[in-house]
Amino acid sequence: MSVKGETPRATEETIDAVLRPQKWEEYIGQERVKKNLKVIIEAAKKRKENPDHLLFYGSPGLGKTTLAYLIAKELKTNIRITAGPMIEKPGDLAALLTNLSEGDILFIDEIHRLSKTCEELIYPAMEDFKLHLMAGRGVMARTIELKLPKFTLIGATTRIALLSSPLRSRFGATFQLNFYTKEDIKKIIGRSAKILGVEITEKAVEFISERCRFTPRVANRLLKRLRDFAQIEGNGIIDKQIAILGFEAMGIDKLGLEEADRKILRAIIQKFNGGPVGIQALAATVGEEIDTILEIYEPYLLQLGLLKRTQRGRIATDLAYTHLGISSKNSQMSF
Ligand code: ADE
Repeated sequence: MSVKGETPRATEETIDAVLRPQKWEEYIGQERVKKNLKVIIEAAKKRKENPDHLLFYGSPGLGKTTLAYLIAKELKTNIRITAGPMIEKPGDLAALLTNLSEGDILFIDEIHRLSKTCEELIYPAMEDFKLHLMAGRGVMARTIELKLPKFTLIGATTRIALLSSPLRSRFGATFQLNFYTKEDIKKIIGRSAKILGVEITEKAVEFISERCRFTPRVANRLLKRLRDFAQIEGNGIIDKQIAILGFEAMGIDKLGLEEADRKILRAIIQKFNGGPVGIQALAATVGEEIDTILEIYEPYLLQLGLLKRTQRGRIATDLAYTHLGISSKNSQMSF
């Protein structure tokens, strides 16, 4: 496998290359997704064809990009990595598509951010491996049809609802990546610690696994931060005491919430009397982008049952009040 192309935007940071699983056997969790993908890949290999276009969706850091790399490796093909916002004009997409070779994988992260014109251009490319280019202007305008090499598109998105149905329907299979189980996260932390060459106690693994949002990227990031704490404040070993110290310093609580998560919950409770509150008003109050709340903070708060989404807006649940130590719906606390 070789990798061509740019890396996705900085906020959708890629997992540290050394920690990224290199083989299926190393990829922990998401068993159903893996099982289905293996069938798709093996069947395609047997038929000596390319697999269907694939779509992955789920919260950031759950392993969508990693899966695309593993598929390319399994198929021994090139993978070209890009992201929706990087493909600004039809010409950018045309350049990408015409530079592919037969059997290549094109991975488009944040595919929901592809422009409408690019999206329309990609339909015939996905369906018939044809590129319809416009030449000339006005009455002289005509379409030129270019034949493309047969490729597999792997799209990834954190916002499946923003994908138009014509685009969604052109993928042969769609997979949702879920938050990991605590057991799987523990295995991932153990594996990463081994690769990083850092000693970690079982209690510390347990402690981190409960505070990393059930997300491998977060677990790996926290592990690296704790390695620093262990080196500076301890004897290099990550034990529970170092983990407690590190999490305290990072402002991460026992549910894995960061200050930004708590600020969102406190805003709903204290500024909007527990909700319901619209996403725009909430974003303006906490000073975050709407997309950041929707893609990064909200899915985990929903998963924990601290937040509820209703037709009329977001509501803080009783659990949120308890977690923040706010007793009644009328209480006022400063934040
Ligand atoms: N690192 C990030 N995601 C992983 C996964 N699913 N399995 C193993 N290591 C990982």
